Amino acid sequence: MELASELSLPTLPVETLEFASNPDPFLEQARAGHPWLAKFSQGYVVHGYDELCELFTDDVNLLPGFGPVIDFYGVRGTMWARFMEEIVIAVGGDTHKRLRSSVIHAFTPRRANREREMMQRVISGMLDEWAPKGAFDFAEFSSYFPVSVMCGLLGVSTEPIPRMRDALENQLKSLTMDQAAKPLFMAGWEVLWDFADTTVNEREASGEFDEDSLLDAIIAAKKEGKLDETEARFLLLTVVVAGYDTSKNQLSVTMNLLLDRPEMYQRCAEDLQFCRAVTEESLRHTAIASPVRTVADDFTYEEFTFSKGDMLVMAPPLANRDASKFLDPGEFDPERDNKDRHVAFGRGEHICLGQFLARNQLQEGLHLITQRLRNPRRTGKAEWRPFLGAWGPRTLPITFDPA
Ligand code: HEM
Repeated sequence: MELASELSLPTLPVETLEFASNPDPFLEQARAGHPWLAKFSQGYVVHGYDELCELFTDDVNLLPGFGPVIDFYGVRGTMWARFMEEIVIAVGGDTHKRLRSSVIHAFTPRRANREREMMQRVISGMLDEWAPKGAFDFAEFSSYFPVSVMCGLLGVSTEPIPRMRDALENQLKSLTMDQAAKPLFMAGWEVLWDFADTTVNEREASGEFDEDSLLDAIIAAKKEGKLDETEARFLLLTVVVAGYDTSKNQLSVTMNLLLDRPEMYQRCAEDLQFCRAVTEESLRHTAIASPVRTVADDFTYEEFTFSKGDMLVMAPPLANRDASKFLDPGEFDPERDNKDRHVAFGRGEHICLGQFLARNQLQEGLHLITQRLRNPRRTGKAEWRPFLGAWGPRTLPITFDPA
């Protein structure tokens, strides 16, 4: 066994924009040096499919959490730091089980299917506003999409959408490890907290209860003593934050793929079932989230010993392009048999809570978008967001025939 830090592993420059705009050549080179692990400036990147699944699922020595981010910005003691350290995505063990189980019944496939009509209504409303423009930046359009659906899901007014969207954009800038982002995400946090607090207070004051409502599930868990006042608001915000960049970027990624495949685009307009296949293959071909883990205690996995404090980027977008699992992984093929074996939603105890909602909103979104934005063409080059955090096109300018 050797210390991973002392081995000459290949490097994957995951923090560079060159990598973000086309990771394949870098990945090919790294795989020639080692089949599943590479280094980067802050730690390691796990890119092999089997190893990623095993490490996500089995290893108690790998902790989620944003401690290094909080320390980087020197904001310990603030409410934002509490949020980043105490939310469901950042904790493990019994606390994680308690938080997750308090609302898991609100995230089942059956519940997510009941939201399809609401999603169609919200997306159609957005398209009524956007389609007549005839041209826009699809990445900007996407950024209104999950917030609008989330407001529908929570049964709250769409009035806070513009400021929520800006606050969410700024919130996720915290993951870029750039000091200039600090005033932006701290200010964004105030907006988000105010939204969560007002939403919970107003719903409780209304005295209404709907057993299918996500918001009411959170409030009920609070009343049953499973969550305290702050945890309930944190959970609400986690859902909003975790579902924002992910859903919007996955929608942009899918559009980016379809722009070069007009026949598939047309089929999406005609066939919701085909939209399901396209959504799944988009999640397989270009997954957008790479969660980070920190080593809690020295441990050995296969031939490597990792040391306490090491950082591991768990990279579903790269594992989904592992040729030992997916034939011709660079091909976008919605007919691929095993496309749903992708790891875009992670694995193990933190596997995405919102995956069924995410799938449904992408499928419904795609079906309606392809009907209303006909014959789309690129009007400029797609620029990419950094690979770490939530990957995907930053800009995707298009023109189309409104319908
Ligand atoms: C295409 C869209 C999405 C993608 C690719 C995605 C991806 C992921 C991934 C990879 C994780 C695991 C994180 C980890 O292991 O550290 C995760 C967790 C999570 N996601 Fe999603 N997500 C998406 C949409 C959503 C939506 C729409 C919601 C809410 C409605 C949501 C809520 C959550 C929550 C609450 C967790 C934390 C679960 C836990 O820690 O137990 N996600 N997501």
